[in-house]
Amino acid sequence: MKNRICELLDVRYPIIEGGMAYVGNGALAAAVSNGGGFGQIGSAGRSPENFEEEILLASQLTKYPFGVNLPISEHKDNQPYVNVITKHKDKIKAISISAGNPSPFIPIFKEMGLVVMVITATAKHALKAEKSGADIIVCEGYEAGGHNGGAELTTFALVPHVSRMVDVPVVAAGGIMDGHGMAAAMALGAEAVQLGTRFVATIECQAHDNYKQYIVDSSDDATTILTRKIGGVIRALKSNYSNKVQKIDQAASTIEEILPYVRGTENKKAVIEGDFENGWASAGQGVSLITSVDSAVDVVKAIAVEANQVIAEMKVINFGQSALKN
Ligand SMILES: Cc1cc2nc3c(=O)[nH]c(=O)nc-3n(C[C@H](O)[C@H](O)[C@H](O)COP(=O)(O)O)c2cc1C
Repeated sequence: MKNRICELLDVRYPIIEGGMAYVGNGALAAAVSNGGGFGQIGSAGRSPENFEEEILLASQLTKYPFGVNLPISEHKDNQPYVNVITKHKDKIKAISISAGNPSPFIPIFKEMGLVVMVITATAKHALKAEKSGADIIVCEGYEAGGHNGGAELTTFALVPHVSRMVDVPVVAAGGIMDGHGMAAAMALGAEAVQLGTRFVATIECQAHDNYKQYIVDSSDDATTILTRKIGGVIRALKSNYSNKVQKIDQAASTIEEILPYVRGTENKKAVIEGDFENGWASAGQGVSLITSVDSAVDVVKAIAVEANQVIAEMKVINFGQSALKN
């Protein structure tokens, strides 16, 4: 059965790979799309040239639709990335815009014929994005890996609230790792799920093996917020390095004091070079649910199958008619 997101993105399963800095590569996006979901190539941590290469690679590896992610404030200049997207607009189905004011960008991408998704973390921003023309609102809760919204709203609080306020379809992101999470998100009012951390621990992801293994070995309390006091909310894996960053954050009085420790270069050290002593790596709170590195094709299918099963089992729960009447 196809819902509005399946129609808009032309996918079999409403399962989206969120944009990911450094590790959202073309082969991964293609694998997610080949599995029946919707893969996306991240632009954060990539030069415009490399971003273009990954788009071309994805288009060679899949015949199914895929998208790209533009985290506005991550780039000093967004124009070169917009130029790449314009050049390859016929290969790209949708764009997700995050980390900044999407309003000036939405008409540009709509004009290109792309489906526009906007990542939001409060109802206020969701309403603003809808008014500005977003086709899909992604509600990203505080459980999510990477940069979180300052309001620190959880997926469980954010998704049902925003789903009631906007008319366009809503995607739930943050803390969803499997079919149980997907079924729960759909019960809250989402029409699709967006996952990040689960797709890092896949064969096709370009992340370093140390990062993938770190995820597989993680317990339920494995993540922390790196720079809440001064540098914004970044959810990352706990490590000696994260302890150091948190101490510096506590002692810091200006953003300049903390920024050298949480830049993209320090992120790259861990996620691409596997050096967890000198770098940090994003991960969502549900990380302990990931127990193996698998093909992203299989991950998408397994989530869809499990979600279906969970929903079917929920349908037969009988609370008892007489109990409900009283
Ligand atoms: C390694 C990593 C890098 C991320 N980088 C970005 C990014 O560049 N742009 C963006 O919009 N979201 C980014 N995110 C957020 C994801 O797109 C997604 O919304 C989030 O991971 C969902 O929560 P989960 O990690 O609990 O699945 C990142 C997440 C991870 C785990």
